[in-house]
Amino acid sequence: MNETRTDFLDLATRRHSVRAYSARPVDRAIIDRCLEAARLAPSACNSQPWTFIVIDDPVLREALASAAGGGMLPLNHFTRQAPVLVAVVAERANMSARVGSRVKDKPFAMMDVAIAAEHFCLQAADEGLGTCMLGWFDEPRVRSLLDIPSTARPALMLTLGYPDHHSGAAKRRRKPMEQISAWNRYPQTQSAKASAPVSGRRSVAGLILWLAVTYLAAVIGGAATARAGAFYADLTRPPWAPPGWLFGPVWSLLYTLMGIAAWQVWRTRGWRAARGPLCLYLAHLGVNAVWSWLFFAWRMGAVAFGWILLLMAMVFAMIRTFRRIRPATAWLLWPYLAWLIFAAALAFYVWQRNPGLL
Ligand SMILES: Cc1cc2nc3c(=O)[nH]c(=O)nc-3n(C[C@H](O)[C@H](O)[C@H](O)COP(=O)(O)O)c2cc1C
Repeated sequence: MNETRTDFLDLATRRHSVRAYSARPVDRAIIDRCLEAARLAPSACNSQPWTFIVIDDPVLREALASAAGGGMLPLNHFTRQAPVLVAVVAERANMSARVGSRVKDKPFAMMDVAIAAEHFCLQAADEGLGTCMLGWFDEPRVRSLLDIPSTARPALMLTLGYPDHHSGAAKRRRKPMEQISAWNRYPQTQSAKASAPVSGRRSVAGLILWLAVTYLAAVIGGAATARAGAFYADLTRPPWAPPGWLFGPVWSLLYTLMGIAAWQVWRTRGWRAARGPLCLYLAHLGVNAVWSWLFFAWRMGAVAFGWILLLMAMVFAMIRTFRRIRPATAWLLWPYLAWLIFAAALAFYVWQRNPGLL
């Protein structure tokens, strides 16, 4: 067998995102080879959950290019120049890939689609063509222009064409090798050290601090409700409304649980590695504290109702992100979310039935 060794590294080095194209048309045979490269891509459980739609019809291409533009934002305007666009559609994966994806909490179908799209782009680069993957586009518009059914999702768009050689050299900014790779163990970078679990006295101090920050939010919010007893009693309330005295104990428990949840996340990963979820938590405390003011002090029924929906969305996001760090921790937040749903229903009822007061 005559085995020739193509220089893949050279191809990977040459491929870059091209954002300026010449008007030169692209041969169908070349596009077919790019599609063949995509067809050969690996996928979880060999599910091949993709469809590549090639668009060379000028009218449709123009419509899609405008769907890929960023609207008011100066994004993806080069899409208009590309003689060919390709929509990469993620299909429903086969049963075993779907089960695996669920069990392992990994988006296999999206991973598969990305790999196939990259196969397409690498073959295009080998043919002397330029491509750019687009993740930012108006998905509903693309879906409707291409008649994509609800069972599938347009995951990526690709521009394809001959690069305009006057467009300047490609910028290839890449992280240094030691930052993206290691041998035999996770790299001992700053962030790896920072993500080590916190223990001992620091952990106890952390617990006190997280609870203190949380109770601070409770105190700020509580200041709005301190003199709201009479106001609450005067409101027309639903028969299922709890008595006023119950709110204090319930909120105290919820604040304690959420403070412990934040502490557990911090203790498991450290501040640096869990900065995103912990900042979300802190921002949520601010939203939580302001809610009581909106409802009880400033008596803005509509805004308060919208605010509690925002709070619910934030708590839901916290449950999702905390769960990834420490699955058991998420359980500490479910009672909070359940209470917020109840409180939102109560706030809605009270706002609707007390037009003069809220
Ligand atoms: C999933 C994904 C989505 C992308 N979306 C866009 C996009 O909407 N607009 C754009 O100009 N580039 C987009 N890109 C291209 C990246 O910006 C580009 O690959 C990255 O900056 C590295 O540069 P290079 O491709 O030239 O090596 C996307 C790339 C990927 C992988």
